[in-house]
Amino acid sequence: MADYDFDVLVIGAGPGGYVAAIRAAQLGLKTACAESRETLGGTCLNVGCIPSKAMLHASEYFDQAANGSFAKLGIKVTPELDLDTMHGQRKDAVKQLTGGIEFLFKKNKVEWLKGHAAFTGKDSVKVGDREVRAKNIVIATGSSVTPLPGVDIDNAKGVVVDSTGALELAKVPHHLVVIGGGVIGLELGSVWRRLGAKVTCVEFLDQILPGFDGEVRKEANKIFKKQGFEFKLSTKVTGVTVNGGKATLTVEPAAGGASETLEADAVLVSIGRRPNTDGLNLEAAGLKTNQRGQIETDHDFRTSVPGVWAIGDVIPGPMLAHKAEDEGIAVAENIAGLTGIVNHDVIPSVVYTWPEIAGVGLTEEQAKERGEVKTGKFPMLANSRAKTNHEPDGFVKVVADAKTDRVLGVWMIASVAGTMIAQAAQAMEFGATSEDIAYTCHAHPTHSEALKEAAMAVTGKPIHI
Ligand code: FAD
Ligand code: NAI
Repeated sequence: MADYDFDVLVIGAGPGGYVAAIRAAQLGLKTACAESRETLGGTCLNVGCIPSKAMLHASEYFDQAANGSFAKLGIKVTPELDLDTMHGQRKDAVKQLTGGIEFLFKKNKVEWLKGHAAFTGKDSVKVGDREVRAKNIVIATGSSVTPLPGVDIDNAKGVVVDSTGALELAKVPHHLVVIGGGVIGLELGSVWRRLGAKVTCVEFLDQILPGFDGEVRKEANKIFKKQGFEFKLSTKVTGVTVNGGKATLTVEPAAGGASETLEADAVLVSIGRRPNTDGLNLEAAGLKTNQRGQIETDHDFRTSVPGVWAIGDVIPGPMLAHKAEDEGIAVAENIAGLTGIVNHDVIPSVVYTWPEIAGVGLTEEQAKERGEVKTGKFPMLANSRAKTNHEPDGFVKVVADAKTDRVLGVWMIASVAGTMIAQAAQAMEFGATSEDIAYTCHAHPTHSEALKEAAMAVTGKPIHI
């Protein structure tokens, strides 16, 4: 590598980039990673997965103490909110985990090039004042919030915010309006509802949670309503004005019609995320983005330019940390001449609300478009552990091919669905049939038995219902 500074230069140190860099270094390649943030870990560790879960975890306990769930277990408490401490433990989690990546970089001899990276050629990049050449360049620049035209996000003021601002609100808003009933709106809406806010969710489509199984979407809507969320479905926001720390939103039916106004103390804009390619100077590398602003790759994560690779939120596919991480490992292995593969048909999705909502594979609707299917469903109400724990909401649904019985998708709402879905993903990865799951011995009493019984229900024979 006579003329090259590095075998591999990764741009972006999120779950895609930092994992790619560590794996490349583990495989003996001289590796650097450019990151413009002050800490490593990208969106996920700094302002995404980790801080949101820290707030979800803490607010869930607060809610259980406040809403009588603890009292039902014989624990009498009157909770008092200490929001500063709650934010403090969130910041601690972020600090520890981002510091952990810095440690792993040092341990694996990955050089962190601090600063914004921009291509100067197809194998050269300028990071801050330094220009480096690398035999392989991996673009892992992630994504940022999609703006809503006419709505100015100002996280510092804390009135109209994106997810980063919504994680840091200094006080509980009296009324929070969430624009977008997707994952961020429901997770962060849940945090502030649990802490005492009235939450109204304005969603453009006629259902929340696009991409999830239809029955799951409907049931989730019912559960959130029961918890106090107010939904304005098939509704669009046409403008937001801010005056003296209050916001006024103008909304109207998505199909057009009479408008109305909503008053709010805080507005969360969560209508999706878009790939980060601004300022990368892709033209210098000879690269273009597609119509959605993404960088296209082949199955091995090669872009159209030899030696330039891309992974994570910046390429097509679900914008999820574990998808980015798996692509990070695969791209490093492919660069090293090994065979790195990601099975994009089996990527689980989890919404970390209460209860959790999870799915993997095809929805029933998608599966039916491809052929004949059988489904089996089992309610959490009939699961002994969920019943004992006073967690009756939700169900597990298995979607299988009618002829081969192969599992095509698994969808669930359950307190620990995020953990349960791993088993479904593994079964699908191994090409399991619903019968394979039904005949697997599951420990009793566990929530996971609901998956076994849903699989039994595919052929019509669950025991407990
Ligand atoms: P990112 O994590 O976005 O990292 C990209 C990095 O590249 C950034 O640090 C950025 O500063 C850096 N960068 C960009 N351009 C340049 C440049 N030119 N030069 C130098 N550095 C650059 N996913 C889950 O799976 N589970 C969750 O629970 C979850 N929760 C989330 C909660 C929130 C509030 C949000 C916003 C997202 C959440 N996500 C979650 C999504 C997850 O964060 C992303 O899918 C994941 O971070 C994508 O990883 P990535 O490596 O592709 O990019
Ligand atoms: P999203 O795509 O999940 O949901 C956005 C919602 O906004 C959709 O329901 C959409 O119909 C709606 N919408 C779009 N335009 C609108 C408008 N003008 N008015 C009203 N509604 C509108 O996007 P979200 O929630 O912003 O999350 C972004 C990404 O971050 C997701 O792709 C998700 O994968 C990732 N993420 C993952 C988490 C997890 O895995 N638990 C947690 C948080 C984020």
